Amino acid sequence: TARVRVHHLQQAKERGEKWAMLTAYDTFSATVFEEAGIPVMLVGDSAGNVVLGHTSTVPVTVEDILGMTKAVTRSTKRALIVADLPFGSYEASPQQAFATAVRMLKEGGAQAVKLEGGVRVAPQTRMLTENGIPVMAHVGFTPQSEHALGGFRVQGRGAGAEQLLTDAHAVQEAGAFAVVLEMVPAEIAAQVTKELSIPTIGIGAGVDCDAQVLVWPDMAGLTSGRVPRFVKKYADLRGELLRAAREYADEVRSGVFPGPEHSFD
Ligand code: KIV
Ligand code: NA
Repeated sequence: TARVRVHHLQQAKERGEKWAMLTAYDTFSATVFEEAGIPVMLVGDSAGNVVLGHTSTVPVTVEDILGMTKAVTRSTKRALIVADLPFGSYEASPQQAFATAVRMLKEGGAQAVKLEGGVRVAPQTRMLTENGIPVMAHVGFTPQSEHALGGFRVQGRGAGAEQLLTDAHAVQEAGAFAVVLEMVPAEIAAQVTKELSIPTIGIGAGVDCDAQVLVWPDMAGLTSGRVPRFVKKYADLRGELLRAAREYADEVRSGVFPGPEHSFD
């Protein structure tokens, strides 16, 4: 089967077919989601929190994302793989963005990149798209700017709605093939989805977006502690892994494992 392409996502919007995106960071997640038929995987800088043990996405490096992108692209044939551009790797200029994005494609094997911001990163988005690099935009709550935005808060409420619409139109105009809407009132996300010709991908943005995305360890119940309101837990992998690790350790201590069937004559 051929790779999912950017134009397939455009066609899905035109046909009114919704689709699901998940993050992926390694061969385990990538191979499972490929088998599940997930059409688009994001090597997200959410890895900073869920894989690398940071408390935000701010410390994530280009090398961090590159290594994970290589693992995910090696492990998939069909899904479209999007690499997140880390904080500090694209904001300064279109040239900086291009240099980073080129690495994600040439070394990482990604088919597209994602960067955070609206009007602010329109020049970067234009530079990449005009030079053959598909760009997924990300507006609303943008975690790399959490210090400036004052923590995790819904964006685009009240007077913020106008700015959100302006940002969404700016990234489409600059050539983005899709846009993530994070923590945006459902009504505003629906309006953006209607006004834009490119697909919107919601996370905490209501049911009317063209697609949805979740951070996989959150949706699979692997993340410890609190998860945001917009997460639905579809499994309890943490509970299951905890049980397995404890049972294994118990059986080693009691001499039950390894049994004769795990041993050689
Ligand atoms: O890094 C990430 O996982 C993301 C998604 C939540 C959109 O940016
Ligand atoms: Na991200």
